[in-house]
Amino acid sequence: MPQGADEPVRWEDARAVNLANWESRVPLHLEAYGLDRLRADPDALSSVVAADLEALSRFLPDGVRGLDLCHLQCHIGTDTVSLARAGARVTGVDFSPSALEAAQALASELGIRGVWVECDVLDARAAVTGDFDVVYTSIGTITWLHDLDRWAAQVAALLRPGGLFYIRDGHPALYGLDEDAEGLVTRYRYFADGRAQRWVETSTYVGGGTVASPDTLEYPHPLSEVVNAVIGAGLTVLRLDEGDTLPWRFSNAMVEVADGEWAFPEPMRDRIPTTFTLIARR
Ligand SMILES: C[S@@+](CC[C@H](N)C(=O)[O-])C[C@H]1O[C@@H](n2cnc3c(N)ncnc32)[C@H](O)[C@@H]1O
Repeated sequence: MPQGADEPVRWEDARAVNLANWESRVPLHLEAYGLDRLRADPDALSSVVAADLEALSRFLPDGVRGLDLCHLQCHIGTDTVSLARAGARVTGVDFSPSALEAAQALASELGIRGVWVECDVLDARAAVTGDFDVVYTSIGTITWLHDLDRWAAQVAALLRPGGLFYIRDGHPALYGLDEDAEGLVTRYRYFADGRAQRWVETSTYVGGGTVASPDTLEYPHPLSEVVNAVIGAGLTVLRLDEGDTLPWRFSNAMVEVADGEWAFPEPMRDRIPTTFTLIARR
């Protein structure tokens, strides 16, 4: 079967396949996610969070210091502890027990307090205690979810009135491209139709090693669907930006433009967005 083949699949089945995949990536990511940098320097932040705090500063001039922040799909916690170092009181949410165990261990090793909640992000409101000034999710999130209306409803319900929602992720137009092509060639579906796309990849996006459960089932979501889900949940969109670099190497055509940051070479760079950033207020 070709990579990215469309597959009609029940959400529960897709979710189980993806959970097995994420569980098997945790040991590899613990080696490759740059934890030693966070250990070595008590002021170090992940590069993802450093960029996200910059993007948020327009609406949070004093940063996240003293704010209650819920991090959805927190993975092994490198971004969550970075947000805590920036002064937030953090709650990390993920459906992977191994990822949360790693996040909790990293936080206690770094002397950071956090609350860790194991649940499907689509059930986050019921699983998480309290409400938040900021709900944050970044880089590698919504392709794992089949229902963005339900996702956005969780976000809205987790936020206090006036609270901010922040997401930065890979641009859906990028995900339509052939990752093996030299140039910008479309290969995959851009629009959502309820079906997932099956991928089988024994390597992961950072570091080496073999992923024991290599199958994933991911859902394309056009940008309009993301924006309309957020609006539909009652949030006010404050800002929508598109970027031309990416914190992972999407295709071999990309070149490293800064430490861990990738982009297409010119003249391709101006022709396709690689990320979107959306900020909304409840
Ligand atoms: C790319 S990672 C998180 C992004 C973060 N930028 C990072 O790299 O640390 C994606 C995370 O989403 C989690 N995830 C995937 N589907 C989920 C779901 N339905 N509910 C909760 N977590 C989910 C995975 O376990 C994984 O930790």
